[in-house]
Amino acid sequence: MLHNLLARKPIEPAGHVDAGEPVEGSLEGEITLQRTLTVRHLVLLGMGAVIGAGIFVVTGQAAAEHAGPAIMLSFVLAGFACALAGLCYAEFAALLPVSGSAYSYAYSTLGEFVAWFIGWCLVLEYLFAASSVAVGWSSYLVSFLTGSLGLPFPAALADAPVRWDGTGFVATGAVVNLPAILIVAAVAALCYRGITQSALVNAVIVAIKVVVIAAFVGFGAQYVDPANWVPFIPESEGPGRFGFDGVTRAAAIVFFAYIGFDAVSTAAGEAKNPQRDMPRGILGSLAVCTIIYIAVCAVLTGMTHYSLLGTAKPVVSALEPYPALDWLKTATEIGAIAGLSSVILVMLMAQPRIFYSMSRDGLLPRLFGRVHPRFRTPHVSTIIVGVVACALAGLLPLSVLGELVSMGTLLAFATVCAGVLVLRYTQPGLKRPFRVPGALLICPLGVATCLYLFWQPFVEHWMIFVGWTLFGLVIYFGYGYRHSRLRPDGRGVR
Ligand code: ALA
Repeated sequence: MLHNLLARKPIEPAGHVDAGEPVEGSLEGEITLQRTLTVRHLVLLGMGAVIGAGIFVVTGQAAAEHAGPAIMLSFVLAGFACALAGLCYAEFAALLPVSGSAYSYAYSTLGEFVAWFIGWCLVLEYLFAASSVAVGWSSYLVSFLTGSLGLPFPAALADAPVRWDGTGFVATGAVVNLPAILIVAAVAALCYRGITQSALVNAVIVAIKVVVIAAFVGFGAQYVDPANWVPFIPESEGPGRFGFDGVTRAAAIVFFAYIGFDAVSTAAGEAKNPQRDMPRGILGSLAVCTIIYIAVCAVLTGMTHYSLLGTAKPVVSALEPYPALDWLKTATEIGAIAGLSSVILVMLMAQPRIFYSMSRDGLLPRLFGRVHPRFRTPHVSTIIVGVVACALAGLLPLSVLGELVSMGTLLAFATVCAGVLVLRYTQPGLKRPFRVPGALLICPLGVATCLYLFWQPFVEHWMIFVGWTLFGLVIYFGYGYRHSRLRPDGRGVR
């Protein structure tokens, strides 16, 4: 049994993969995903996935309650962890240009059991991120409709029926979060239709949000009062509240804002020239987003005292004291609504591709690996993911979902960093189109930083995380273990 749990999927690289070539695990004559994406698409997909609720919703709370103006430093710390992981993702995505991302990388390095566990963590990342950002999208939309436009919207249809009060779930009085369900359904329909169409819509949305953010930074900078940055790190008020401890706590929270650059790697199976373009797509989007985030935080905390930013819409709140910038409030709301939808889009694109890869390996039923004959998308997985994401978005609150997303992602990042190092020893001779520089230092540092952030603030949701893992194990031993294509008796071979 141990032998099976540790079974590794051989890496079969990698002459030049090119547009139109079949994708992983394809049998002759079988329909597969389509290689159509260029480096521009990939960078924009990264930006589409990254810039969202993290900067438009979470940042304010993290500044107001944990870091003060040093939220900039928290972003640098979280960005540093992501850069380490990003380098490792870049090496793997160029070496193994398949759709399974961290799941596939773990399968080739750390064995089937770890791969399953990480694949299951990625569900937390992509599926739950889509749902949690849909909840944030819904709050922005409802407040835009009721506040800025003065239209009515029934409160009973604008929130989850339960919220987490720190110890358990309590009723909110609402019935369902209808806008969250509708946006997930609309985006899932787009993902079903095609990767090129999805990438195009994403590009338009990214353009809108980048223009809005540039306007916020450009116009807001004129109202920055450097006195608001003093003291840069407010004095500690207890564990996790200001002081350096608060800065690291905030880093773990705003880590959420970086999640998504790795989703680019799930498009490796559809990139025209993945060996060249995946590292550029992953690292390029991460670099651009880091610069944007630090600029936004500097202006945000410079315009308005950090203690006033703990609202659901901190970027709008920062504009509140400046009547001359009223017009920018509406633009920011529109930018946020657009921006959050591209996060949902890329996450809903990524998750079915993970399932697709798991299914191709036999760890999930064949159904999950089906590809639409005309649209060339993993359409059945897309429908399943869409339905589950609708249910989560409609029924669960943002805080619970968001922290689970960060937990799952940090574990996936740590595993990818470890995997790069393992592969350097087990297969040193592999031709790697991109190599992590100084891997002996970068990889262990990446593992350590991600695990450090993993232990930080997530105490309350441990039980949910453990429950989720046990649920995954039941599925693995009930199905995947017996159907894996790596079993020597061939039972899993399909
Ligand atoms: N990084 C994504 C966001 O901030 C998940 O919304």
